[in-house]
Amino acid sequence: MKDFLRIGIVGLGARGMDAVKRLPLVPGAQIVAICDPASPIPRVITPNCAFFYGAEGYKALCQQDLDLVYIATDWAHHVPVALEAMECGKAAAIEVPAALTLEDCWRLVETSEKTGLPCVQLENCIYGETEMLAQNLAEHGLFGNLVHAESAYIHRLFGPGCALAEPWRVNWNLEHRGNQYVTHALGPVCRILGIGRDDALDYLVSLECDSFDFKAFAREQNLTTSAASMGDHNITLIRTRKGRTILLRHDVSSIRQRGRFLHIQGEKGIFLDEPLRIAFEPQRNPADLPKIYEIEWQKPDELAATRTKYMHPLWREHGAVAKTADKHGGMDYLMDLRLVDALRKGIPPDTDVYDLAETCSIAEISERSVSSRSTSIPIPSFRQQ
Ligand SMILES: NC(=O)c1ccc[n+]([C@@H]2O[C@H](COP(=O)([O-])OP(=O)(O)OC[C@H]3O[C@@H](n4cnc5c(N)ncnc54)[C@H](O)[C@@H]3O)[C@@H](O)[C@H]2O)c1
Repeated sequence: MKDFLRIGIVGLGARGMDAVKRLPLVPGAQIVAICDPASPIPRVITPNCAFFYGAEGYKALCQQDLDLVYIATDWAHHVPVALEAMECGKAAAIEVPAALTLEDCWRLVETSEKTGLPCVQLENCIYGETEMLAQNLAEHGLFGNLVHAESAYIHRLFGPGCALAEPWRVNWNLEHRGNQYVTHALGPVCRILGIGRDDALDYLVSLECDSFDFKAFAREQNLTTSAASMGDHNITLIRTRKGRTILLRHDVSSIRQRGRFLHIQGEKGIFLDEPLRIAFEPQRNPADLPKIYEIEWQKPDELAATRTKYMHPLWREHGAVAKTADKHGGMDYLMDLRLVDALRKGIPPDTDVYDLAETCSIAEISERSVSSRSTSIPIPSFRQQ
């Protein structure tokens, strides 16, 4: 096991700066290089660190003595930096969405396979306390066979009255339809359903309303809109090879409650979040049959007991530290903790390049579906058969 994992960070905006503050709290993580075209990079936070500037500074960073390149740039630079990192013999970890086109998904898969280096997506929501509770309950078989899941990314960032943040993201959304920020919703669902282990995404249909609030926002900001501008509310339905369904929603413009609204449905139980509700099939008494059994939400004390008993072991062990370590209630820290630990030990990280490609491929495929009156479109299998 390596004493330290030597990390280079590329992109020092909001997320990169969060990582610079958070990673030093992770045992064995050592930030040794940082790159951003903007300057000055605040040296106070990282005293023993090499700095690289300019749009191509990441190429020099990738030549350094590093184990991992941690990429927190805007979307356009995720893939070029990750490819350069792997070609230089470094593992790559990429902020979400790691890639937005099928071609880029394949390039990451092929380069990771060719170099034998891990290439993972920094999908923090997989490590959310609630998501991991659902995962643990599912793994204990408490929902029985899983049949359906729902999740969402609902966060009003680009509605009328909102300030213009992340202009690169706005520009992308002005030219693309479909679900372009899918991984916070789909990442945890794939993990809970065992996608990539004993099930696979098969095909999808995607439908969205027109661009009402988003275009109003763009007009306020004097931005040019097009017929392809992202609809306000996108609904994408995926069917898995094992016959399960997944419903994903994406909305970054409407006036709505922010949330991911995780929903896991099994043959023996149901999990709904925001607010959290859990119900299990009641014990059947044959003498009562043929009574129709209503499923009832657990009472507050039962729900609290379930949460305590089935808190994920990662949260049980590290939750208290995690909650103080980041801005997202602990999930960023736990994501980093697991990644650094795996790379120090030389074992596979929790997720791989195939998980990355499967979730990221939905952006282009959902756009194709939306643009063809919601035609059903196959989701490619990125894994070697
Ligand atoms: N996981 C999460 O919860 C979460 C939350 C917010 C954003 N994100 C993702 O994180 C990424 C960054 O988002 P952000 O809000 O920090 O954006 P940002 O615009 O604040 O920061 C991006 C940074 O990348 C830098 N950059 C651009 N080109 C570069 C290059 N060639 N080399 C090095 N640096 C370069 C920019 O100068 C900027 O500082 C995006 O992919 C976004 O989708 C994830």
